[in-house]
Amino acid sequence: MQHLIETQQCTRESIQKLFALATALEGKRDQSLKGKVLASLFYEPSTRTRLSFESAMYRLGGHVITMENGRESSSQSKGETLEDSIKVIGQYADMIVMRHMETGAADRAAALSPVPIINAGDGNLGQHPTQALLDLYTIQRELKRQDNIHVAFIGNLKYYRSTRSLSYLLGKYKKIRITFVSSPELRMDDDVKEYLTRKGVAWEEVESMHHVVKEADVLYQTRIAKEWIKNEVEYEKQKGRYIITRAVADSMKKGAIIIHPLPRIGEISPDVDDSPHAVYFRQVGYGLMVRMAILKTIARGVKSRGK
Ligand code: CP
Repeated sequence: MQHLIETQQCTRESIQKLFALATALEGKRDQSLKGKVLASLFYEPSTRTRLSFESAMYRLGGHVITMENGRESSSQSKGETLEDSIKVIGQYADMIVMRHMETGAADRAAALSPVPIINAGDGNLGQHPTQALLDLYTIQRELKRQDNIHVAFIGNLKYYRSTRSLSYLLGKYKKIRITFVSSPELRMDDDVKEYLTRKGVAWEEVESMHHVVKEADVLYQTRIAKEWIKNEVEYEKQKGRYIITRAVADSMKKGAIIIHPLPRIGEISPDVDDSPHAVYFRQVGYGLMVRMAILKTIARGVKSRGK
């Protein structure tokens, strides 16, 4: 693995190796990335992705240079191109993790970067591959399997890069069923649905979550993203349409789980947090392990450049 841009580039074998490494790293710290530098470039807000990558790098003995709020604080605000920024930062760091507001930005960066690029989310129609990998790892840890799973993606499926990334990952597994639950305005895009059809995944689209919450193995709840739905009237119309309440959680089948990339803005009621189905805060901890494993895996291919 050099760059990590989209989940289509992962194979079942590479995912299994990554997950085995993540499990081996649980609760551990080592010095395997001593002397290595990670550049953490965030042109959009983030809590989990930025801090978990930075924490992961420190836990592996490496160093971090960080740029938060890059849209305002970096020289791109003066007109520097992303391409020029990456050519420069690639001389300061051994790896770059980047979140950017433009779909395709990670791919553009990877095309000319002298060091590996890890896509931490690109644009409203791009991908968030490390989130999808930690989502899949969460499913594997909690359900003890990856094949033969019924996943219900709920809410904002149009402007939600991690649901796109996870759908592409699920297409690699057997006997997967996906139910996309959304309003017509926020349906999953055709590229994902066409891919799933080609891969033989059974998928359906519904507007009501009433039946599927009782049947699915995984409820993947999403946030209605105000940053991408610019029209206030439309945002208000969509917000609050699909809420996982305690009554919904209590109606789920035994062993089924609720996951969410977070942040949540009311779409899971706080009284669900102590339900046996609620896994979304454990998911955060799994994410740290998976991101440690990603950094270690990518760093193996990085030659020391004497920086
Ligand atoms: N799940 C996720 O990407 O969260 P942040 O936006 O806080 O990084």
